[in-house]
Amino acid sequence: MLLEKMLQSQGFGSRKHCQQLIKNGAVSIQNEIQTNPKFAIHIKPDTTLQFSVYGQNYQYREQVYIALHKPQGYECSHQATHHFSVFDLFEDVLLNRGLQCVGRLDQDTTGLLLLTDDGQFLQALTHPKKHVAKVYSMHTADPISAAQIQQLKQGVALRNETGLFAATEVQLLAECELQMTIHQGVYHQVKRMLAAVGNKVEQLHRQQVGALNLNDLAIDVGEWVYLSPEQIQLAKTRIE
Ligand code: URA
Repeated sequence: MLLEKMLQSQGFGSRKHCQQLIKNGAVSIQNEIQTNPKFAIHIKPDTTLQFSVYGQNYQYREQVYIALHKPQGYECSHQATHHFSVFDLFEDVLLNRGLQCVGRLDQDTTGLLLLTDDGQFLQALTHPKKHVAKVYSMHTADPISAAQIQQLKQGVALRNETGLFAATEVQLLAECELQMTIHQGVYHQVKRMLAAVGNKVEQLHRQQVGALNLNDLAIDVGEWVYLSPEQIQLAKTRIE
């Protein structure tokens, strides 16, 4: 791949802009400045290609897969109106690649949010027919009754949605704390399910997507990491 094209694929702007960066001596490959935009780069599978732009180091990534520990007060849209945008937490080079949220969390929901520029991965995790499991824990306004747990397991109807929405692995953690798994992802699903059984979600946290658990990523609120190939597989793993 030509150096100018490689740089463009990594989010450094138009082909012309990348050519200019290279000609200006801003780009090093494996610690050596390259001023020829047509310099041929050989990207070998299973090896990492390091480069730097104006002294900042980067690793070549064909696609990016990111796990963010989402803080409260951040919206999953690019044009956030009343809050910050989760995209404010990422560098321009990532945004230029077309980074997107894999599904959405409400602005007040915390926890595991995946982001990618891989359209197929996004589809695989969000397509309604794939039924990817998502584990949520929540704090509710009122004590959760056995009857409410039973209803959540059996499935509840949600206005303007077809079919019933049921949770699995429903566990009462404390009087007003519940953890449960859902397998669809309609708008405000968890909050609407709890409202449908006569309770109210006061705090919501996503703990897991597929078999990928936030605890195993060891990231604090507001931090993010690139996912390894194994972690990408875990996110796609089907759990019942
Ligand atoms: N369900 C909700 O109600 N909100 C979220 O953020 C995620 C799932």
